Amino acid sequence: MRDPIIVLKFGSSVLAGADDFPIAVQEVYREVRRGRRVVAVVSAHGDTTERLLHEARERWGEPQPESLARLLETGEARSAARLGLALDAAGVPARILDPVQLDLATSDEVLDAEPLAFRARAVHAALVRVPVVVVPGFSGRRADGSPALLGRGGSDLTALFLAHGLQAAECRLLKDVDGLLRVHPDGSLDHGTRYATASYAECLRVGGPLIQPKAVEFAAARGQSFRIAACGSGGGTLAGPYPNRFEPVVAKPPTRVALAGLGTVGLGVYRWLSGQPENFQVVGILVRDAGRQRAVDVPVQLLTESADHLLGRDPDLVVEVMGGEGPAAGLLDWCRRQQVPLVSANKQLLAGDPETLACLARGGSPELALAASVGGSVPALELVDRLARLGTISQVQGVINGTCNFILDRLHEGGDFQAALTEAQLAGMAEADPYLDVSGLDCVYKLSLLASRAFGRPVPPGSIQREGVGAGVEARVRAARDRGQVLRLVATALKGQGEVGCRVALEALPADHPLAACRQEKNAVLVTDAEGVGHLVEGKGAGRWPTTVSVVGDVLDARRALARRQTGPEQVRSTRSIQAGAEGAPTRRRESA
Ligand code: NAP
Ligand code: HSE
Repeated sequence: MRDPIIVLKFGSSVLAGADDFPIAVQEVYREVRRGRRVVAVVSAHGDTTERLLHEARERWGEPQPESLARLLETGEARSAARLGLALDAAGVPARILDPVQLDLATSDEVLDAEPLAFRARAVHAALVRVPVVVVPGFSGRRADGSPALLGRGGSDLTALFLAHGLQAAECRLLKDVDGLLRVHPDGSLDHGTRYATASYAECLRVGGPLIQPKAVEFAAARGQSFRIAACGSGGGTLAGPYPNRFEPVVAKPPTRVALAGLGTVGLGVYRWLSGQPENFQVVGILVRDAGRQRAVDVPVQLLTESADHLLGRDPDLVVEVMGGEGPAAGLLDWCRRQQVPLVSANKQLLAGDPETLACLARGGSPELALAASVGGSVPALELVDRLARLGTISQVQGVINGTCNFILDRLHEGGDFQAALTEAQLAGMAEADPYLDVSGLDCVYKLSLLASRAFGRPVPPGSIQREGVGAGVEARVRAARDRGQVLRLVATALKGQGEVGCRVALEALPADHPLAACRQEKNAVLVTDAEGVGHLVEGKGAGRWPTTVSVVGDVLDARRALARRQTGPEQVRSTRSIQAGAEGAPTRRRESA
């Protein structure tokens, strides 16, 4: 059975500038970790379309529609390339498919065409290999192969058209407001009330500047539902064959985050959180040396060397990305006692904590989010969790240490062990003490977490057989290569006869094995269900941005859960609408495409 597909459309107001792409990445990743395949349709960012139009008219008078269409579609092409680059940096595998590769056929009107057909098989084929396909919206090809545009705001139509053709489970149009706001009789917006559901007719009546009317008509003709929401939202407006129903817009205060650690991962997390001041306030940062020069501007009053001081700042949420077992164990214990949610990437601490393993075996807890402790941006624990809920896992097998895989890959290419390890350290993949990586212990901790969740029983690290990438590994890599095989450090947890057997060992794999194809710092986890069907997730397993995307994914989930706990459906506030609107009131913008 195929994973469900979701079509996400990122409007020009969401991609207002180059700095907004990490927010789009996070929105895509949110769906990937839920086990969905994502088709991300993008508009040109910011006012690109207006600027290109202006340039064409100022310079060339009344340009030919064909030339204009060629110029304007470059805005969406650039956006797609940028999102592709941002996904790659975060380690989320993605492919860009343009209108030619999609065979997206339109009618003959050059600037206001109708979409007619596209090659759904091209999308499905790409989604077998990668979880994300990025599509530049707004344009297609006429019968003669020349470009045609779908009219102003046409990326909305691209998204709904693709969602319909792919039979997607959901289509979400992402805007800089969290849904359609009610309109007062005098035409002004009621910022305190939005539509929870809206009929097509109401979307056409009040959604003009926000959604392309032609796209609404396309959906109405097919009875297709779609959502209008902000990035990070859990709600927004559900549009479709529904009655109009209103709900209050409740602005939530920023979530107060205590951050423990400001190293490779902590810096990435800090940058992300501090870029979202409406939704997050970092109230303190625990470091070992508060006087040290940092690679990022951090207000000095935030830094503390005392865990007590950090926790005294009344956090709603603690993010632990410092590693080790000492002070980190104190944070885990405090969060448990105070019932404050903890997001942690610290597999050593978590696997060594019997209560955590027991909790995982019971199905986990919303108060402990540990996705980043295994696999960086690879949603390994998430996959295991989903399949464990169905009770069908027979084996978990994975390449789950980026540093070792990087070293093995370099050795395979004829490189030197020490040089490869140094490179991995400089790139921020290796643990502070790289012995944890090369000894196989890091894999053992991660396998302990995966296996405990997979098989519903605590699997302590001490019960796992271990091998690392130590002395003599070069000869084994060479021997495997000479046989046409690839040497990998493989973590395996296998259930048989009521027992769970776990080991971390070097294995020579056939070159076409999915784990052999996992190169460099990539991780891959293959989960086999009771029917023998393999489920594979892969991507970058280590380094700043792949780990940050996973930590932030957990942080965003925790904020949504906190908001639900406090006052029902949460409200997401958008940076730009707050900057642009009076008193922080969301404003509407016209989408350029
Ligand atoms: P790192 O670069 O060594 O950074 C550690 C940070 O924590 C530093 O800011 C350090 O303070 C602070 N810290 C360490 N021990 C402390 C202590 N006893 N008291 C107060 N502060 C302390 O480590 P990292 O690579 O970011 O990794 C952090 C955690 O994420 C680890 O659990 C690691 O296993 C996990 N993780 C890392 C990756 C990765 O790719 N790097 C991937 C997944 C998970 P100073 O700055 O003052 O030294
Ligand atoms: N040191 C770890 C690795 C970081 O190389 O995989 C990611 O957990």
